[in-house]
Amino acid sequence: LKGCSRCPLCQQRCNIVFGAGDPQARVVLVGEAPGREEDLQGYPFVGEAGKLLEKILLAMNLSRETVYICNVIKCHPPGNRDPQADEISACEPFLKQQLALIKPEIIITLGRFATQTLLKTTVPIGKLRGQWHEYEGIALMPTFHPAYLLRNPSGKRPVWDDMKQVMQRLENQAES
Ligand code: URA
Repeated sequence: LKGCSRCPLCQQRCNIVFGAGDPQARVVLVGEAPGREEDLQGYPFVGEAGKLLEKILLAMNLSRETVYICNVIKCHPPGNRDPQADEISACEPFLKQQLALIKPEIIITLGRFATQTLLKTTVPIGKLRGQWHEYEGIALMPTFHPAYLLRNPSGKRPVWDDMKQVMQRLENQAES
């Protein structure tokens, strides 16, 4: 990805935000795209949404260091606008390779873009979350994006229900 210029987002970015965490993680979380803070620091989920994500992980007895966190899009879309279809298709091969190399037991997709991109669907996130899906043989749990939770705290309860399903599955798989 170094020096990537496959889409116009390269013109305004400060850093490519590749991903961070344990490359042998059992759980990979996939967000949408780096925000301004992530662009400046070069790491995913280091802004306000990231702080909330960290709290959710800690409540699950996980941490940034024990999971792997990345985004569908590796460069910051100006003004935090939605990623465009051509930007997603330019960047998607890198996400696919990350997942193929890490081979996690569970993928958690955060929000509409990550979920719809990996599941190749246009079904709304509200209908997809809370149920197990499959991506290339890997169990995938969609849930709401933490940035959405900052605006809609009532989404926290369903997210916690989704994360309890993830914890249960991790426990079951550790035993078997
Ligand atoms: N939102 C995302 O989807 N990803 C980040 O890295 C930060 C905020």
